[in-house]
Amino acid sequence: MISILLSSSTTTTLLPSRPIYTSNPPYFSTKTTRIRHFNVSCDATNGDQNQNHNLSPQNVQTSQGKIDRRNVLLGMGGLYSASSLIPDIAPSFATPISPPDLAKCSRGTNLNTGEPLDINCCPPIAKYTDYKLPPVTNMRFRPAAHLASKEYIAKYEKAVQLMKELPDDDPRSFTQQAHVHCAYCNLTYEQKGDPELKLQIHNSWHFYPWHRWYLYFYERILGKLIDDPTFGLPFWNWDNPPGMVMPDMFAKKDSPLYDPLRNLDHLPPALADLNYAAKPSDNSKVIQNNLTEMYTEMVRGVSKLEDFYGAKYVVGSTPDPGPGTIERGSHSSLHVWVGQATKSGEDMGNFYSAGQEPLFFSHHINIDRLWTIWRKLRGSKPKDFNESDWLDSSYVFYDENARLVRVKVSDSLDQDKLGYSFQEVDIPWLKNRPKPRVKKSKIATTSSAPRADSVFPVKLDKVVKVLVERPKKSRSKKNKEEEEELLVIEGIEVDSAKFVRFDVFVNDEDDKPDEIDKAEYVGCYSQVPHKNSTGVKSKIRLGLTELLEDLDVEDDDKILVSLVPKANGDDITIGGIKIIYAS
Ligand code: C2O
Repeated sequence: MISILLSSSTTTTLLPSRPIYTSNPPYFSTKTTRIRHFNVSCDATNGDQNQNHNLSPQNVQTSQGKIDRRNVLLGMGGLYSASSLIPDIAPSFATPISPPDLAKCSRGTNLNTGEPLDINCCPPIAKYTDYKLPPVTNMRFRPAAHLASKEYIAKYEKAVQLMKELPDDDPRSFTQQAHVHCAYCNLTYEQKGDPELKLQIHNSWHFYPWHRWYLYFYERILGKLIDDPTFGLPFWNWDNPPGMVMPDMFAKKDSPLYDPLRNLDHLPPALADLNYAAKPSDNSKVIQNNLTEMYTEMVRGVSKLEDFYGAKYVVGSTPDPGPGTIERGSHSSLHVWVGQATKSGEDMGNFYSAGQEPLFFSHHINIDRLWTIWRKLRGSKPKDFNESDWLDSSYVFYDENARLVRVKVSDSLDQDKLGYSFQEVDIPWLKNRPKPRVKKSKIATTSSAPRADSVFPVKLDKVVKVLVERPKKSRSKKNKEEEEELLVIEGIEVDSAKFVRFDVFVNDEDDKPDEIDKAEYVGCYSQVPHKNSTGVKSKIRLGLTELLEDLDVEDDDKILVSLVPKANGDDITIGGIKIIYAS
C-alpha cells in the first residue's frame, strides 16, 4: 500500500505578499459540528436599502409557493430547535439568495474562532436598480489568449492600465473590482433572510452564474475605458495543449497584466497542471493527465445537473455545500498553481486576493466558455435547473457606468443575449475516454480492505481503501440511461484556510496515483484556500455508470474505492461513502 502525505506549506518569508493586508491566518479548530441559532424574529427588512425587495419576513416565495417564513421557522423548532446541529443539506423551506445589504458588509469572520479577519473588501454603498440586458448591437469577441494578436494585447493592456488608474474608491477601479470577488467569498456579507449565516457563492450552484456576471461587468468596464463596445476578455485555453502554459501576455514584467505575487516557477514554459498537488509536476504526464481530467469533468461524471453545477445553496444554507466537477478540479488546481507557493498563496491561490491577479479573469473566462460548451454537449437533456431557488437567485454588481445593479441567474443563461462569443479552438478532450488499466478486475472480491461502514469518519493522513456495496448490479442499458450511479463522499471537512486535495480511484490494482489517465480514476476534491476557516461539511458526487462499464465490472456487488491524499491530507476528514442512484 502506498502512503502519500504532502505538505504545501513551504512558506518562505522572502516572498512578497499582498501589502495592503497583514498576514494573520486564522487557525483551524477540529470541531466537527457547528451550532447555529435560528433567529425566529429575523428582521429582513431592517436596514434594507431596497424595499421592493423580494423577501419579507412574512411572505417568502418558495418552490412550494408562498409561505409564511415566520411560521416555517417556528415550525422547525421541534426539528432544529434554538441550538441544534445543522443538517448538511439545503433547508427545505428554501428561498433563493438575494443581494446582500452592502451597509452590513463586515470584515470576514473566522467562523471557528469568531475573530474578525484582517481583510476589508467591502464595496462602496449604493442603492441598486434591476438590471435590464441591453439590446445586443455589437457582439463582443473573446479570443484565446495564446492566439491573440499584438494589436489586441496592446488594447487589453491599455484597458487594464486605465482601470488601475481609476481612483481606488471608484467601484470600477481595479482594486474595487478585486474586492467584489473577495466580498462574495469571504463571508463578509450577511445572507439576506438569515443574517446568522454569511454569504458564500463558491462550492455550490452559484459558481457558474455568479462568475459569469462578474466577468460580464468587468469586461464592459474595460470596453468602456477604451471606448470599444466589441472588446471581449481573452480566455486562457488550458484545456487544449497549445494553451497549457501561462499565456505570454501575462508573463511580461512591464505589463499591467503582470502580477509579481505568483509562483515564479510557473512562468512559461512550465506546463499548467490541472491535477496540481502543490509539488513539482511530472512533465511527461501532465498533458495526458490534463486531457483525462477534462474528460472526467466535462463528460464522464456529469450526467446529472448537480454534479456539473455544484450543490444547492439557498437562504439558510451553510457555506460550501458541495462543488461541481470543474470547480473542485481544474479550477482549484490552477488557482493554486498560479499563486505563490506559500500557505496563503497570494494572489491567485487564495479567494480574498485572486481578483488582484489579471490572469484570474482569463482563467474564469475559460470556465465560462466550458460552461457554454457543456450546455451544447447536453443536446436535448436539461441544461439548467428549473427551480426558482436557482433561477431567481440574484446578486449585485457595479456596471460600466458605476451604477449598482441587481442581476438574476435566469438572465445569465443565454450567452447570445449577453452579447459575446468565443474564438473556436480544438476540443481535444472530448473523445478522450480513458482506457482501464485492468479490465474485469477481481480486486473488489479478493481485497481484504474493510467495508466502508466500519471505517468512517476517517482522517486522510494516508491512503484509505474501502469496499463499498452497490445496492444494484447488472443494471440494464435502459436503467443506466435513466439513473446515474453515483459515489457519494460526504461529511468532507477540511481546513478551508489551506489548499487540500485528494483523488479517488475505483478498483485500482496498480496504485499509480500520479497516472490520472486511466479509467480507474473517478475524480478529485481540491479547494482554493479561503481566508477564513469555515469548518462546515461538504459533499461530492462522482459519476460511476460509464466507469463501471469501461472496467467491465457491472455484475460485481461491490467496488474497491481508494481515497488518495495529494495535498494536506492531515487537514481532511471524510465522514462517509456510499453509492446512490439519481434519476
Ligand atoms: Cu471565485 Cu476561481 O474563484
